[in-house]
Amino acid sequence: MTYAMITGATGVLGRAFAVELAKRGYNLIITGRSAQKLELLQAELKESGCGEVKTFACELTDSEQRNDMFSAFSGLKIGMLVNVAGADIQKPFGEYSQDKLTFQTRVNFEAAVSCCAFAIENRAQTLRIINVSSVSGVFPMPYFAIYSATKGALTSFSKAIAAEYRGKGVYVTAVLPGSIYTRADVIQYINLLGAWAKFAAKQPQFVVKKSLAASERGKSCVVIGGANRLALLAARLVPERLRLRFIARKWSATRKDAF
Ligand SMILES: NC(=O)c1ccc[n+]([C@@H]2O[C@H](COP(=O)([O-])OP(=O)(O)OC[C@H]3O[C@@H](n4cnc5c(N)ncnc54)[C@H](OP(=O)(O)O)[C@@H]3O)[C@@H](O)[C@H]2O)c1
Repeated sequence: MTYAMITGATGVLGRAFAVELAKRGYNLIITGRSAQKLELLQAELKESGCGEVKTFACELTDSEQRNDMFSAFSGLKIGMLVNVAGADIQKPFGEYSQDKLTFQTRVNFEAAVSCCAFAIENRAQTLRIINVSSVSGVFPMPYFAIYSATKGALTSFSKAIAAEYRGKGVYVTAVLPGSIYTRADVIQYINLLGAWAKFAAKQPQFVVKKSLAASERGKSCVVIGGANRLALLAARLVPERLRLRFIARKWSATRKDAF
């Protein structure tokens, strides 16, 4: 019996992954910080007739809590890991507290890498890892600096271990979505970013289907949506100095901190 493990399952995109993977017949391990949210999701998934659903409430920035979770699930065969948990805090670097920057860095990168190590150690014959990164990690982004750097690191790490494990039954895919219609504050933010952002934004279910398809095709990296691929292509043609100036002007006008 193999399991699909989903971090950030209590969030909007994570929930969409859980629902889709349950439909595809996986037994699930779902994790998030809130035991109450996990129980509700577990009940909902069970009601829809899915197989086994195991839960573990875990603050992923805390290595002791992560180790407790890994001990609880050690010995289970992991056939899929989807690292969805992440924090999209966006503000000037000078406004970060030490706690906040540690939190965002750890959840976006350290926790995902740590879960990859756990899944690889406990893998079924085939293991598929999907790391939810972002197009925001492709170029440095002033006023979104920690998010951009940590997602860039996650993409780089994913591509590197995809190559390390090629031919060994472990498939690793970095998924780079643009904006996704998720939390209410994110939807509001997409509207603030303007017409192009609205045009390029995708529904969570779309992102899930494209991510799973890319994983099945063995791709190590996928940008979700034609508009996002086009925007990246155009951005590459702009000299870095000008690109940084453009991003700084646009991103200094908005802020996001739901964590
Ligand atoms: N929305 C977008 O436009 C967009 C675009 C590109 C990439 N992404 C990425 O997609 C992923 C999901 O985004 P979303 O919009 O669905 O966000 P969301 O609804 O806020 O979900 C975030 C999830 O991560 C969990 N999480 C956050 N910090 C955690 C921590 N320290 N320990 C354990 N779990 C933690 C949350 O748990 P709680 O329920 O306990 O808070 C929640 O389950 C993120 O990695 C994000 O960077 C989003």
